[in-house]
Amino acid sequence: MEIFICKDYDHASKLAANILASHILLKPDSILGLATGSTPVGMYKYLVEKFNAGELSFKEVKSFNLDEYVKLPKDDVNSYYTFMYENLFNHIDIDKENVNIPDGNVVDPIKFCDDYDKKIDECGGIDVQILGIGQNAHIGFNEPDSVFYEKTRVVDLAESTIKANSRFFNTLEEVPTQAISMGIGTIMKSKHIILMANGESKAEAIKNMIVGDIDPKVPASILKLHPRVTVIVDEEAGALVKDYI
Ligand code: PGA
Repeated sequence: MEIFICKDYDHASKLAANILASHILLKPDSILGLATGSTPVGMYKYLVEKFNAGELSFKEVKSFNLDEYVKLPKDDVNSYYTFMYENLFNHIDIDKENVNIPDGNVVDPIKFCDDYDKKIDECGGIDVQILGIGQNAHIGFNEPDSVFYEKTRVVDLAESTIKANSRFFNTLEEVPTQAISMGIGTIMKSKHIILMANGESKAEAIKNMIVGDIDPKVPASILKLHPRVTVIVDEEAGALVKDYI
């Protein structure tokens, strides 16, 4: 694991955007694994800036998103579909045919999830996967006690995740209780993983991931077994690990 403790969120976002951009420059038909949530918003902003400056093209890129809520309409303001188009896809030259986001409203989710993993494999696998991390150290929606080899599937969200995500909804009751999420097994097959975190609320999760044992109670801890993980945190999220690295 390489770990960067950046001075603030902006610096962390810029660094993540630069690394992702370098993947695309070296391999224009890169397969990207993309994440939603507050954390990658700044990185997407810098990628759009690079595109607008003519420094980067997404024309040949294919993308696979990590997760999506179950039974939330695709065009809901809180769907990850809406998030991705508003923060990135509407502003770059990616071919919409190459965008893959789990569909939380499919009739047959088991088949959909199997096909999602198959499609990733058929494209040659994810070159670079962006991850955030939950306060409970989940990655994607793989909550504590998830099985490490799981593939994409329907998952129940932990109480703490529902509470954390309720900040985007009017009431706690409106937060979906299930999602389709890439499994940890799917994530671990990515060639390069960039995990980002910012703010004090993530410091404990980052510490448990980096310093603790590999433990299903800390889903992100499995990343220690991956050959190429880049952790990018701001000073607050990295506060409890700076003495260990
Ligand atoms: P956040 O979510 O980026 O909104 O903090 C990350 C996550 O829960 O994985």
